[in-house]
Amino acid sequence: GPDIPVDATKAHLDQLQKIADDNGGNRAAGSAGYQASVDYVKGKLDEAGFTTTVQEFDSPNGTSYNVIADWPGGTSGKVVMFGSHLDSVEEGPGINDNGSGTAGVLETALTYAKSGEKPTNTVRFAFWGAEEQGLYGSTHYVDSLSSGDTSAIASYTNFDMIASPNPGYFVYDDNSNGNGIRDDLTAHYDEVGVKWEYTDPQGRSDHAAFIDAGIPTGGVYSGGEETKSQAQADKWGGEAGAEFDPCYHQSCDTSQNLDLDALDKNTDTIGAMVWSYATKDLNTIT
Ligand code: PHE
Ligand code: CA
Ligand code: ZN
Ligand code: ZN
Ligand code: ZN
Repeated sequence: GPDIPVDATKAHLDQLQKIADDNGGNRAAGSAGYQASVDYVKGKLDEAGFTTTVQEFDSPNGTSYNVIADWPGGTSGKVVMFGSHLDSVEEGPGINDNGSGTAGVLETALTYAKSGEKPTNTVRFAFWGAEEQGLYGSTHYVDSLSSGDTSAIASYTNFDMIASPNPGYFVYDDNSNGNGIRDDLTAHYDEVGVKWEYTDPQGRSDHAAFIDAGIPTGGVYSGGEETKSQAQADKWGGEAGAEFDPCYHQSCDTSQNLDLDALDKNTDTIGAMVWSYATKDLNTIT
C-alpha cells in the first residue's frame, strides 16, 4: 500500500492543538475551536481539488456541522466512505480523540489527491460533528440519505483514536452487515507485521448509524480508558497495568498525548484501505 507521510499527519495535529490553544482550550461542538477545525479541514480539501460540502444539523450544543469531501471521478455508482469525528470534548483539545483519526483521514485524502490514482468508485471522506454529544453528525448524515443514496454506499470505515500513547491495535468486530472490512483491515495488519486483536466497540462511534442503515462497516482503534494487560504489553510494548490513553477526555489530551509509531502504522492502514477500495469490485465486499 501507499506510504502516507507521518510528518505531514503530525503537522495537522499540531495545527489542531494550536486551534484549541487559540480558542479556549477545546474544539467541542458549538465552540469557536470547532468552527476553526471545520475551516482548517475544508480549506485543505478544497485546495487539493475535492468537492466539499458542509452539512448543518442540530445538536445539544446548538447548530453543528459535518464536512463531506468527494474525490471527482468514479463511475461504478458505488461509494466507499472513510470517516472520523472532528469534534473534541469540552474538557480539552482532543488530539488523540479524535485529532488522530481526523489527521490520518485528512492526510490520506490529500495524498490520494496528489497520487494520480484513478478510482472506479466514488471515494468520500467524512469529518463528523458532535460525536461527543451522542453521534449527532454521523446520525444526521445517514438519516438525510435517500434510500438510493444509502444503497449506493458500499462501505464505511471509521477512525476514532488511532494514536493512543500506550497503544493497542484493535479491529472492530461489531459488523453485523458483513465482515469484509474487518477482514481487509486484519489482512493489512498481518501484511505489515502488526499484531492485532478484535474489539467490540458496541456502537460507541460514528459507524453505528451506518450499521443501523444496513451498510458494511469497520474500523481500527488504539485504545482508551481501558487498561493494557501484561499479555498485551508483551505483544505491543508499552506499559502493562496502565491505560491505553490516560488522558482520555481530559485536558491533557494534547499533541504530547500521542504515539507517533501508532499514528504512522494506522495512517498507512487508512491509506491501504482507500487505495484498495477506490478500485474494488464491490460485489465482493460483504
Ligand atoms: N467514541 C469514543 C469517544 O469518542 C471512543 C471510542 C472509539 C470507543 C472507538 C470505541 C471505539 O469517546
Ligand atoms: Ca507512513
Ligand atoms: Zn471521545
Ligand atoms: Zn472519539
Ligand atoms: Zn496492505
